[in-house]
Parts: sequence; structure tokens; C-alpha cells
Amino acid sequence: MTPGLEDLFTLLRFPSVSTDSTRRDDVRACAQWLQQKLTAIGLPAALHETPGHPVVLARNTHRPDRRTVLLYGHYDVQPAEPLNEWRTPAFEPTIRDGRIYCRGATDNKGQLMAHVRGLQTTLEKDGDLPVNLIVLFEGEEEIGSPNLEPFLQAHKEELRCDVVAISDTGMVGPGVGTFTYGLRGIACLEAKIHGPSIDLHSGIFGGAIANPALAIARLAATLHDAEGRILVPGFYDAVKPLEDWERKAWAELGDRDVETLELTGSPALFGEPGYTSTERCWARPTIEVNGIGGGYQGEGSKTVIPREAMLKLSCRLVPDQTPNAIQDLVAAHLEKNCPPGVRLEIKRGHSGNAYVMDPHSDLGKAAQNALTRTFGGKIALIREGGSIPIVHAFKTVLGVDTLLLGLALGDCQAHAPNENFPIDNFIAGVQLNQYLLEELA
Ligand code: BES
Ligand code: ZN
Repeated sequence: MTPGLEDLFTLLRFPSVSTDSTRRDDVRACAQWLQQKLTAIGLPAALHETPGHPVVLARNTHRPDRRTVLLYGHYDVQPAEPLNEWRTPAFEPTIRDGRIYCRGATDNKGQLMAHVRGLQTTLEKDGDLPVNLIVLFEGEEEIGSPNLEPFLQAHKEELRCDVVAISDTGMVGPGVGTFTYGLRGIACLEAKIHGPSIDLHSGIFGGAIANPALAIARLAATLHDAEGRILVPGFYDAVKPLEDWERKAWAELGDRDVETLELTGSPALFGEPGYTSTERCWARPTIEVNGIGGGYQGEGSKTVIPREAMLKLSCRLVPDQTPNAIQDLVAAHLEKNCPPGVRLEIKRGHSGNAYVMDPHSDLGKAAQNALTRTFGGKIALIREGGSIPIVHAFKTVLGVDTLLLGLALGDCQAHAPNENFPIDNFIAGVQLNQYLLEELA
């Protein structure tokens, strides 16, 4: 068996679903196991309580003449539902065709264990690391890291470092070293439309009162034009245009449209005019409907006017949009466009700023050297559409850049059934982590 795989399997078996309050003990047990594991490899670790799930913090003995590197990862996972779409049980790691299938295999436990195994290998070989190291693993990334920024504030001195490194992003293809220098931010909102005080017979009352399900559909339809441009006034005002060099560099990655169609199974591509699909995902803001509903969802028909309907939205943000301002704009737009005869209630959800760094900085180059040593060939410089909310706070609170060295592939099914992680990527990640600390030293 590949060294380190047994530990990864143990980690994967914890159903550490951060959003599910019935899994609270599992999340904690997962953190405790990581604490023990880090301590056992020679990195004394502590569990720090937060109002939510615990933070695991470990460090080696620091020396003033060395650079300090903070490695971040998250041990929480998304819910595994729908369970019947998994080929093997969601929390029982199973190997098929060189890949490990399990919730969290790629996002983020496989990539997190590549850090741990890389550290373990260097410590066994050299008895020390080439840098001062801080390991920070959190259990709330998938719910927007609500308690981590206050934790950074409270432990600012202890967490003082020169740079952060994370493996929680993707690669543009198998074996292609990929350096991600930007992430989109996020701002979530929920809208509820209230109509009659009870569900009504649609024959007796239909025609005389407004239908909340129809109202929510109308409201959702006001967010974009037919071509996919966002119609919320002011939404694009703060958006920084793409740099010429990045448009060129991304074009050189080749046309990713066919791959996107294959990966998604969609019948066609669709999005904001004037941009390639890569640009739309990595550097343009969006508003997505993550959930919409109301009324009868069961078999057959039921003649009813539902008393309420709901809409769950998330906006992906780019520099220099700010989550609060975007939530204000979207909320105002929803209020203004709410059809008559119903009452609208809006709730703001979690959020995080976008992040972009200079990939040509010294630290960026050091990370790219580590990628070249691991994968050979040319390194892809990309931004990504996903969000890691705490990265912005690493910059604003700790004052440091974050190096994103992802190991996930497009077909790893993060957040979906049959999530998986190639064993080759784990092995490469273990090597990458050793080179990374050498290069950063
Ligand atoms: N690992 C992802 C973020 C990611 C995925 C970055 C792909 C780049 C490419 C992370 O675990 C994640 O899913 N984040 C959430 C954050 C949200 C729940 C606040 C996301 O992006 O939806
Ligand atoms: Zn995720």
C-alpha cells in the first residue's frame, strides 16, 4: 500500500460534515485524530475551541533565522447526500481504477494528508524541517469559516508567519503542475416569499390571490438578462477588468469548452457574452440559484397554492467587489422587484472576499519551482472560480500572501456523489510538500 494511505483512510472515515449539527461529535473526533497524528509525527498539536468546530494548531520549534510557513487545510466536508447516487458508501474509502472514492477524498482530506505525509517524510529523513512551521486545520471551511477570522485576530502573534500555503484547489489536467493565484469570493442570500397563512385549494382561491411559487420564479428571473448578464444595478461597478497577460496565458491553456461540456454533461455552454468560459468561471462575477422551491413536490398532482416559496442564492465575487455591498445591492434589487400581493423576507448568508496575488513574486516563484520539480513540464498559472473565504483574512489580518497549490482534477466530483482522489495525485502531493518547504526555506 502507498505510504500514508492508511492514515488517509482513517481520516476519511470520520463523517465530519460541518453543516450538520447531528455530526458535531464526529467533527470533533476528526479534529482529535488529527491532533494526535500531528503530535505523533513530531509536531506537538493542540485543539482550540471556537463557538463552532475546533481548530487544530501544531508547530515545530521555531528558530529566528528561518522563514515561517503556515500550512492550512480543512478537515470538514460537505454533506454526502444524495446517498443513493454513491456507488460505494460515502464514508467508506474504496479504491477503484487508481482512485480513492469517499466524501472528502479530494476536498480536502486527501490534499490535507499530502501536507501531513510530506511533513512526516521530511521529519523522518532529516529529523527537522527547513522552515519554522505552523499547521492550522479548521473544521468550518465548508460553512464559510465563520469563527476562523476572529481566531486569527485573537492569535495574531502566535500565527505570525511569512506566507501561507494551501492545497485545496485544482489542476488543469493530470500531471500538470498548477499554481492558482486567484480565487473568487462569495456572498450568499436567502429569500422567502410569504403569501396566504395556510396552503390553499387552488380551485377555490386560485385567481383571487398571488401565488408565492410564481412570485419567487418571477423574482429569480429578474436577476439576469436572457444572455446571462446580471441586471442588479451596480453589481459590476467595482469589478476590475482582466489583465491582458492573463487573458493571453489562459488562452494558451487551450480551449477548455469541450472538456467543460464533458465534465458537466450539459447540452451546451452558456454565460456572459464577451468572455470565454474559462474567463467567466475564473474572473467574472456571477449570481447562481442554488435552490428554489415551494408547493407540492411529491408524486402526481396536488391542486394547491403554497403559502410560501424560497430562493437560495450565491454570488461569486471578483476583485474589488465587497460581499456586504453586493448583499445590499442584491437585497435592494429583490425588494424592488418583488411582485405585488406577497411579502418578501431576505436573510444574508455567509460570505468571503475574492483573492488575487502576484504570481511573479519571489514566494510565487518558489512555489512554482516546487511544482516544476514535482511534475516537470510547464506550470499553468490560473485563477479559479471556487472560494476559500479565509484566504482574504490571511492577507488582511496576518498580512501575508497565500500560495495555492491544488491537487484536484476536474472529474474528482468535489461536493458531489462519488467524490474521488487519484492515488497518483496523493503521491505527487507528498513529494510537492517536501519540495515546497525546501524552496520556501
Ligand atoms: N476546495 C474548495 C474551494 C475551491 C474549489 C477552490 C475548486 C478552487 C477550485 C472549498 O472547499 C469550497 O468548496 N469552498 C466553498 C466555500 C463556501 C462554502 C463558503 C465554495 O467555494 O463553495
Ligand atoms: Zn469544498
